[in-house]
Amino acid sequence: MKIAVIGCGYLGAVHAAAMASLGYETVGVDVDAAKVERLRRGEPPFYEPGLPELLKGGVDAGTLRFTTEVAEAAGADVVFIAVGTPQLAGSDAADLAYVDAAIASLLPHLTERSLIAGKSTVPVGTARRLAEMVAPTGASLAWNPEFLREGFAVQDTLAPDRLVYGVQRGDDASVATLDTVYASILARGTERLVMDYATAELVKVSANAFLATKISFINAMAELAETVGADVTQLADAIGLDARIGRRFLNAGLGFGGGCLPKDIRAFQARAEELGHGEALGFLREVDQINLRRRDRMAWLVERELAAVGGDRVGMLGLAFKPDSDDVRDSPALDVCRILERGGRRVTAYDPQARETAGRSMPTLDIVGSVEDAVRHADVIALGTEWQEFRDLDPERIGALTGARVVVDGRNALDAQRWSAAGFKVVGLGRPEVEAA
Ligand code: UGA
Repeated sequence: MKIAVIGCGYLGAVHAAAMASLGYETVGVDVDAAKVERLRRGEPPFYEPGLPELLKGGVDAGTLRFTTEVAEAAGADVVFIAVGTPQLAGSDAADLAYVDAAIASLLPHLTERSLIAGKSTVPVGTARRLAEMVAPTGASLAWNPEFLREGFAVQDTLAPDRLVYGVQRGDDASVATLDTVYASILARGTERLVMDYATAELVKVSANAFLATKISFINAMAELAETVGADVTQLADAIGLDARIGRRFLNAGLGFGGGCLPKDIRAFQARAEELGHGEALGFLREVDQINLRRRDRMAWLVERELAAVGGDRVGMLGLAFKPDSDDVRDSPALDVCRILERGGRRVTAYDPQARETAGRSMPTLDIVGSVEDAVRHADVIALGTEWQEFRDLDPERIGALTGARVVVDGRNALDAQRWSAAGFKVVGLGRPEVEAA
């Protein structure tokens, strides 16, 4: 079986490498020549645990190639569409220009034997429209959304919770082709659900909307907890023990960022409005607002603590939107740096992986190469991303470097008792402050 993957970003590069690891002759296509060049050497253009090994394995074995020429997708049994669908400039809607361009460029290379399988996150109704574009070639189209998380992308691709196929009614041939592609995954008993296009598209966006809502729910509780002096982390533990609620995705703090959740809930709401049912998803605006308010709250807490110690230096730990990623798209931590810098504060930041990406996104930010350099003489330490490296820090050692001993933990990730015992005042989001012991 021959596979082509159009678009080699987070989704496409991982998918192509995963397909090759399953033994398929795979070609990844991307318009970005520099990215293709790196991938050809087996180097991912972003940080993702496990991906370098998978890429190198495929490239060295000769099963995995990368090219800028879409014509090389000709002859593939399945062409996966994995291009980005970013937020449209000046609007909440998704920009489908890359998806449309990918399909248009493929048209001359399709035959009745080809199956296009869409993976990109798209507004409901897109697959039906694309199927009409593809129809004259005789090729088929399925929508096969992807649920991978950055940081766990390889594992999520090769061992997903479920496979979802959106197909046209009666299109058993496309179902059979996808079953062949995913045979080894299905053989392990993975659930596979076949449905129509619209449902498959909605599964993807509603899953992300649910996850975002869960995070904003707990962050709304954090807002109230701050008012009444309660502890949101204990609250999350207690409600999370109810199996109907579950503890996962109930970590209160700086909230969600990244290239998916924020733009997906906005695009979902925009699509509902286009369909005349904006009210059905009106709550997603609130979810977005709660999420963004956490960034202001964190910056406010840092300001308050700076004022208390009469300083203006902040040591920011973490810039990526979450640990095990170098992605700073819509990163809450980076946003806090922006707010603080706008207020004239001196921010020195460190992230184990996001130095380059954050530097491109915020060239004015002073980004250093170690925790020590970030916290030296800092009046307040702010934790923006819960990397394991930060959880493991020795507060005694850190305290010997800083100006004052205050830490604002934006992810409620540090052991407050340990930090307090080392003389730090620990300020969390949605929980009572712990004074220095
Ligand atoms: C998300 C979904 O989890 C994936 O299932 C989906 O496939 C992907 O988007 C996508 O659409 O491509 P991802 O953006 O990699 O994956 O990151 P998540 O692990 O979902 O985290 C999102 C954000 O929520 C991060 O900023 C994280 O710090 C934050 N978060 C997560 C919390 O603030 N609290 C939590 O309890 C969990």
